[in-house]
Amino acid sequence: MLDPSDFINESINKIKKAVGNKKAIIALSGGVDSSVASVLTSRAIGNNLVAVFVDHGLLRQGEADYVEKTFKNRLNLITVDAKDEFLERLEGVADPEEKRKIIGEVFINVFERVAEEVGADYLVQGTIAPDWIESQGQIKSHHNLALPHGLVLEIVEPIRELYKDEVRILGSELGLPDEMVQRQPYPGPGLAVRVVGALNPEKIEICRKANAIVEEEVKKEGLHGILWQYFAVLTDTKVTGVKGDIRDYGYLVVLRMVESLDAMTANVPELPWSMIKTISQRITAEIPEVTHVALSVSDKPPSTIEFA
Ligand code: XMP
Repeated sequence: MLDPSDFINESINKIKKAVGNKKAIIALSGGVDSSVASVLTSRAIGNNLVAVFVDHGLLRQGEADYVEKTFKNRLNLITVDAKDEFLERLEGVADPEEKRKIIGEVFINVFERVAEEVGADYLVQGTIAPDWIESQGQIKSHHNLALPHGLVLEIVEPIRELYKDEVRILGSELGLPDEMVQRQPYPGPGLAVRVVGALNPEKIEICRKANAIVEEEVKKEGLHGILWQYFAVLTDTKVTGVKGDIRDYGYLVVLRMVESLDAMTANVPELPWSMIKTISQRITAEIPEVTHVALSVSDKPPSTIEFA
């Protein structure tokens, strides 16, 4: 990458030239890539960029507030509460790819509605180099995107040549808080890929609480900038436990913490045992529905990072 401030100036000129006085829209997920792409683009076209944050009900704890707090003074931000729409469509669906497909479809429907209301002509995307290199150039082939109900948007990808470490540097240069630029990657379908099997509000909430505990303890240990991802998975296995003097039958939660450079491969490093024990004790004490916590020790390959 060029010097970050030169990159910013060049990008601003390119975006201004491409978009002119028209309106653009971006799906802001709260992840590093879409956040950096949003802030960079808004430096070029100001409030003509509308950032849309869709709350699909599968977010990590406190995420909607965090995104609003971080971006309300930086971006022209619209938050869409689409929790019910997503959950209704996902009811009873257990297959991981089916869940992803539904989430993708509902997301695009919600997004297209907002894009029409806004009157957007351009779609800004936070695509980075590994996204299109891994898909063997497939993403590169389209210069516009036809949405299902007919809206066609021209695509602008201001950070498509950058790698993750460069995106983080750019984010800092753009004045984003450290906490934001160092965030772990979070999958678009959110907790849907961390709850094994069919979703319901109770399971999503258990998984959300367990994930919050993992994030807190990993941060306390200072490992958040070192591990690639760290999270909890709610399995669909129930196991016997004993809480107080009473036998219980609750969920098995699996802890997944990996090191990686690009998510293509990953390995489970040696982890501080005291941290693992604290996480396990907190999850079983603070989440009544969980009776057992296990640690995943499988690398990728053969396992994937997510469980679903
Ligand atoms: P896997 O589980 O395939 O994950 O080893 C590799 C990386 O991709 C993330 N991931 C996703 N991200 N939509 C996303 O935006 C998805 O459907 C999805 N599935 C996995 C995962 O968190 C990891 O960083």
